[in-house]
Amino acid sequence: MMMMMRLLGVALVVGVMAVAALPAPAAATAAAAAVRTIGGDDDAAAPPSNQPPHILMVLVDDLGWADVGYHRSGPHKSDIQTPTIDKLVSQGIALERHYVHKVCSPTRASFQSGRLPVHGIDGQVVLCAPRAGIPENMTTVAQHLNKAGYASHFVGKWDVGMATPSHTPHGRGYNTSLNYFGHANWMWNQDEWQGSQNNVSHRPPCKAPDCFKDFWDTDRPAHNLSGTLYEEQLFVQRITDIIEAHDPSQPLFLTYASKVAHYPLQAPIEYQQQFANIEPPSRRVYHAMVKYLDDNLYYITTLMQKKGMWNNTLMVFSSDNGGPVMAFDGDCDASHPSRGYMCYNGEAGANNYPLRGGKYSFFEGGIRVNAFVSGGLIPADQRGSNRTGIMHIADWYATFCALAGVDPTDHRAAAANLPPIDSHNMWPYLAGQARFSPRDTVLVDRDVLVFGDYKLLLGASNPMANWSGPAYPNATTATSPISRYTLNCSDPGCLFNVVEDPEERHDLAEEKPDILKLMKFTLTELAKSIFPYNPGPVDPQCMKTAETKYDGFYGPWLNLDG
Ligand SMILES: *[C@@H]1O[C@H](CO)[C@@H](O)[C@H](O)[C@H]1NC(C)=O
Ligand SMILES: *[C@@H]1O[C@H](CO)[C@@H](O)[C@H](O)[C@H]1NC(C)=O
Ligand SMILES: *[C@@H]1O[C@H](CO)[C@@H](O)[C@H](O)[C@H]1NC(C)=O
Ligand SMILES: *[C@@H]1O[C@H](CO)[C@@H](O)[C@H](O)[C@H]1NC(C)=O
Ligand SMILES: *[C@@H]1O[C@H](CO)[C@@H](O)[C@H](O)[C@H]1NC(C)=O
Ligand SMILES: *[C@@H]1O[C@H](CO)[C@@H](O)[C@H](O)[C@H]1NC(C)=O
Ligand SMILES: *[C@@H]1O[C@H](CO)[C@@H](O)[C@H](O)[C@H]1NC(C)=O
Ligand SMILES: *[C@@H]1O[C@H](CO)[C@@H](O)[C@H](O)[C@H]1NC(C)=O
Ligand SMILES: *[C@@H]1O[C@H](CO)[C@@H](O)[C@H](O)[C@H]1NC(C)=O
Repeated sequence: MMMMMRLLGVALVVGVMAVAALPAPAAATAAAAAVRTIGGDDDAAAPPSNQPPHILMVLVDDLGWADVGYHRSGPHKSDIQTPTIDKLVSQGIALERHYVHKVCSPTRASFQSGRLPVHGIDGQVVLCAPRAGIPENMTTVAQHLNKAGYASHFVGKWDVGMATPSHTPHGRGYNTSLNYFGHANWMWNQDEWQGSQNNVSHRPPCKAPDCFKDFWDTDRPAHNLSGTLYEEQLFVQRITDIIEAHDPSQPLFLTYASKVAHYPLQAPIEYQQQFANIEPPSRRVYHAMVKYLDDNLYYITTLMQKKGMWNNTLMVFSSDNGGPVMAFDGDCDASHPSRGYMCYNGEAGANNYPLRGGKYSFFEGGIRVNAFVSGGLIPADQRGSNRTGIMHIADWYATFCALAGVDPTDHRAAAANLPPIDSHNMWPYLAGQARFSPRDTVLVDRDVLVFGDYKLLLGASNPMANWSGPAYPNATTATSPISRYTLNCSDPGCLFNVVEDPEERHDLAEEKPDILKLMKFTLTELAKSIFPYNPGPVDPQCMKTAETKYDGFYGPWLNLDG
């Protein structure tokens, strides 16, 4: 029933069934059957095309390593349901050493700007700080792609700045956006999130000037959409609108930055019911959200096939950091009659098994995330394979530019004395033309280096220093929050071979002094390039503008006259 309701919602939007009334169950089932082939035969033998490929970037929020079916095995495999993701991976290439940052904003800024976070974008965005997010004079990937004739659209979480119109998705090169600007919002009404609130069971609705709504439609607040439907349904409807209206002879760049599965955890009750056997509610709702995303990807990829776009599409999927494994502190709110549980106590529910740590840590569970490529652009002989070479989310910038045939060099940033891009073109490696990744190093942080098979950690207090187990309660946080443990790597440093020991269980610092020395030297040298992130102090004018100009919604507040 739930599946049919979802299909109905999308079908009405995309006009597959142009009937105003509810379709008969049989019609919905037939529609489901008609579209249920991803990467079908007619796509399989796609000849190379002269047109640059369509690019579908799916950036997921707080997805744990073990929160997708293809990274799970054993008796608890069925706890998670991601049939579409698993199928897309099986028809694409799993990227098993794809690095991101430990938190959201720097990863997202890295994707849009092609820089490593250490090069000017390493900070969680405070919305009302005037220089928060990506420095104004960095050229973004959408701006490059536009030069090659792309139509670019953004849907979902922005999280890389909004001070002026040029900081918004539209200003950064996306022709349209339906987005929120902050780390997260409430999925039924778009109230800003305001962080986890331990043991609060009833959250008052947003009221200016203490709280604002966060939902934006290209160049204005998304007033008329806010509060109408579950947010991920609004997103998939916008995406299907975009694809339906798109002329396939023009290359499309579409970024879907899903709210799934960031706190607050919220999902339609039909989805929660599919995971009724899972305790506690934080994990249940988390899995329900992931399933909702999986269904959305099914609708999106199916529509791209029906439009004849899929055979010339590169789809990239990545989480923005590892899964959150904080304490689940207090109950979830179940007081709303039709919305099931809504959780905002702590940041729990994910699972990074067998990796160490999670979001907020530099262990593999925090920065090495679920990622894959799929779509008809993947050469037939590479489908179903994997890559274990180092990649970073900054690398999609140069990769997309190469596929579009544009030079990724950022001259504008150079003129403004900002760091150059750090991005490598991964396409030859993905296409099977190059044996090795062009990247062998990630300067993760001033105290953290990934270099070849090794990782060096130097900080005195590395948080989340424990392991998820395969299944709850030995999985997330109920009895022994992973967040409770820290690892002191100040002297002489912690050294892990993350290829032979991806779980980071054996510190090699004493066993391999030569490698430790080399890693420390390399880190010191590379750290000279670190460029500070300087967002500036919160500007009260931001809140004033939200209240007076945007009727309680966040939006840009500086340079409004261009
Ligand atoms: C992709 O598929 C569509 C319809 O199936 C077809 O019209 C088009 O020529 C194909 N494009 C390529 C590049 O194969
Ligand atoms: C961006 O570059 C322009 C032109 O070089 C300059 O006027 C402006 O001040 C720069 N903006 C920032 C925030 O540095
Ligand atoms: C998208 O934006 C670019 C520049 O920002 C513009 O050149 C292009 O015409 C726009 N495309 C569409 C389809 O609106
Ligand atoms: C909602 O707002 C958008 C953009 O602001 C506008 O294009 C659209 O027509 C509006 N829809 C309705 C139903 O008012
Ligand atoms: C929240 O409530 C639980 C259960 O009563 C309690 O164990 C925990 O200490 C509380 N946490 C906070 C931060 O008050
Ligand atoms: C990658 O593929 C190879 C060959 O199929 C396989 O042996 C290996 O286990 C895979 N690695 C990962 C991390 O999935
Ligand atoms: C991980 O947690 C267990 C308890 O579940 C504890 O005994 C162990 O010491 C912790 N490991 C580390 C490295 O902190
Ligand atoms: C929990 O999982 C970890 C990681 O697999 C394992 O080392 C540990 O033995 C498990 N503990 C229990 C009590 O099952
Ligand atoms: C970490 O270890 C060093 C010595 O190895 C010690 O001086 C320092 O106090 C420790 N820091 C923490 C936070 O435990």
